[in-house]
Amino acid sequence: MADASNMGFNIYDDVPTSPLSYNQDPRSNEAIAETIFNQHAQGDIMNVPGWYAACHSLTRAFPKLVALVDPAMVGRGFELFDLNGDGILDLDEFVGGVRELLEPTSVRAKSLAKRLYAGRIHEGQQNFSHVKTVAIIGAGVAGLQTARALSKVGLTVTIYESRGNVGGVWRENYIDFGLQVPKELYEFPDYPRDQAFKLSAKATAEFPKGEGVQEYIESYADEFGLREMCEFNTAVQELRVEENGDHQAWTVVYDHRDSYMRASVKKEERTFDFVVVATGMYGWPPHMPLAIGSEKFKGEILHSCTFTDPKCAAGKKVVTVGGGKSAVDNAVAAAKYGTESTLLFRTAHWPVPRNLLNLVPFKWGTYSRFGHFMLPAHYDGSCIKRWFHDALRPVKWVWWRIVETMFRVQFGLSGDLLPTVPIEHDVFNGGQILSYEFRDMLKQNKLSAFKGSISCFTEDGVILGNDKEIKCDMVVYGTGFKKSYHMFDPIVQRKLHLEKDGLYLYRNIMPPNVANLAFIGSEVSTFNNILTQGLQAQWLQRVLCGQIFLPSPGHMSRDLEIDQAWKRSWMPPTNARASIWQLHMMQYHDTLCKDMGTDHRRKGLNPLAEVFVPYAATDYAQIFHGTETKTASHVFMIVDGLLLTLLFLIYYYLF
Ligand SMILES: Cc1cc2nc3c(=O)[nH]c(=O)nc-3n(C[C@H](O)[C@H](O)[C@H](O)COP(=O)(O)OP(=O)(O)OC[C@H]3O[C@@H](n4cnc5c(N)ncnc54)[C@H](O)[C@@H]3O)c2cc1C
Ligand SMILES: NC(=O)c1ccc[n+]([C@@H]2O[C@H](COP(=O)([O-])OP(=O)(O)OC[C@H]3O[C@@H](n4cnc5c(N)ncnc54)[C@H](OP(=O)(O)O)[C@@H]3O)[C@@H](O)[C@H]2O)c1
Repeated sequence: MADASNMGFNIYDDVPTSPLSYNQDPRSNEAIAETIFNQHAQGDIMNVPGWYAACHSLTRAFPKLVALVDPAMVGRGFELFDLNGDGILDLDEFVGGVRELLEPTSVRAKSLAKRLYAGRIHEGQQNFSHVKTVAIIGAGVAGLQTARALSKVGLTVTIYESRGNVGGVWRENYIDFGLQVPKELYEFPDYPRDQAFKLSAKATAEFPKGEGVQEYIESYADEFGLREMCEFNTAVQELRVEENGDHQAWTVVYDHRDSYMRASVKKEERTFDFVVVATGMYGWPPHMPLAIGSEKFKGEILHSCTFTDPKCAAGKKVVTVGGGKSAVDNAVAAAKYGTESTLLFRTAHWPVPRNLLNLVPFKWGTYSRFGHFMLPAHYDGSCIKRWFHDALRPVKWVWWRIVETMFRVQFGLSGDLLPTVPIEHDVFNGGQILSYEFRDMLKQNKLSAFKGSISCFTEDGVILGNDKEIKCDMVVYGTGFKKSYHMFDPIVQRKLHLEKDGLYLYRNIMPPNVANLAFIGSEVSTFNNILTQGLQAQWLQRVLCGQIFLPSPGHMSRDLEIDQAWKRSWMPPTNARASIWQLHMMQYHDTLCKDMGTDHRRKGLNPLAEVFVPYAATDYAQIFHGTETKTASHVFMIVDGLLLTLLFLIYYYLF
């Protein structure tokens, strides 16, 4: 047997110790950095692959640097370390870089260290007793209702609003914009129009125009002193995670704007315990899928949200792109104020008439529990409920075909204008409740509508995919909106888990993995948004007061995965699918009510009213006034049971 001592180096007896050049104390930061360098360097230099591995070791040794491995940071870190820019690191650069990141002295290192701190953001938490100050971004109906709910429980609220007034989308929008629903389906639950002080006839019309809705919102802001909480003409640019004692806080970085929306050079900042993003779903940035050659077009190109002045259409031939509510309204406006109007749409969508069969207001079919029951079932129901949904599937199918036939006749839909997607799915694209203006203008040849898209622009018009040319002086893109999360550092954006079909949040409000942050109204869309946002604000108020206890981040994420799988199994694939509830709003409102420990059935003890009478904001008023009494739930459980048994027996004998 060979003698180990003759075989050269014996790892058991002679562990080589490379003498530390920086600090003899192996626990010092320099010594740890040097050890990591030696571990990953090749010889006495470290290349980029070695750097990636070293970053992982650094984050384990220095938790403060945990975000160094984030794809957005790993390159920035290397640049900071590589002082002479030769693409390799030597020991001095590496140890110096670590020292500089841990205790930054240069401007570059300070800014990088701040960003790395964002990566240490806490996961969503359950205790909010530290929250005293709240920043709300946006003074639309969502931001205002949140400010009212949170200030009511003693929190200090500041609303940052980039424009000079409250109101959001209602402050200014395209020509003739207005409510698509009757006024009782768009009001503050704790401030119905009939209790508002001195509203003009415009604000109380059956279907108020934008100006009337804005007047009502301003009256709400004045009544509850919400304007005093607003910092107007102040646009939030950045939300930065900050250490604040033993809590994490947000520093809100903002600039001031003048009336032309020009930003001042100077940025200011203020730190808050909690931030609410209430920047809206349909405000900014506009989605403008411009076709090629737009630069040579001599006419004007607008987005629906900037098509605000009838004079700009005067004497013009206008082409409108899109098949949603904005595009249809823009095409009608162009026909009224221009000389020629053409609507170009990619997909035809089902319009919903204001009155079913010109008799019954549509809310009876869509805002009632009966209407909700006829939709594709939500996954969150008892097995009896699911059994009923399955058993009644053929009945539901027939019901929707009858509805389609009704709408087809009412709107005279045929050819390209006849949608191919079943209506019970199509309404989850956004939905559009129309008067007969568009239909009548088509009939009278005052406007034309084609399925198609712009292939390219010419100097004086557009060429479609089928080579057809349309001469025009103006093109309006009614193509909806995108979402922007630029306020958050890319590291935080990754923690929000943005998906192609939107941002999935717990109850469409809280991100499971980012603490002290909520979204009100900006990640949810229903057929009664003002009520939905109001309920969200009440829910958030109870979370911050400790009356609703949130599940752990893991449980929240699991809930989101189920929601995501359900939506992806049948809802139209849009970039906002995560936010879409539309007619399933009944289910969403029920969930919020249950979380708040209040009755979700709100029609008293009359089961027929509960099933068939449409729900509106007034049904929820008690929650907002804090005068809630829990009465109906138990009675309803018994009535439910009896009704279900009755339905079962009817079905059993009929089929
Ligand atoms: C033309 C139109 C008609 C509609 N009709 C209906 C309807 O009939 N029924 C219905 O339920 N819904 C309707 N909606 C949907 C509507 O978006 C909601 O009802 C609701 O008004 C949205 O309110 P919000 O506060 O969430 O957002 P917004 O009204 O968009 O308000 C967001 C606010 O945030 C501000 N903001 C944004 N970014 C920043 C920043 N970085 N810093 C500071 N401030 C910022 C904006 O200036 C804005 O004031 C309609 C939407 C449009 C566009
Ligand atoms: N109360 C009101 O009067 C009113 C008025 C306006 C808006 N709103 C609400 O505000 C929200 C936004 O409505 P919106 O109409 O502005 O936007 P939208 O509902 O998102 O519709 C956008 C339209 O643009 C089309 N589009 C998108 N990209 C396109 C492309 N590259 N080429 C061709 N077409 C393209 C879409 O076509 P596809 O369908 O094929 O995807 C869709 O028809 C909706 O919830 C709506 O109900 C309400």
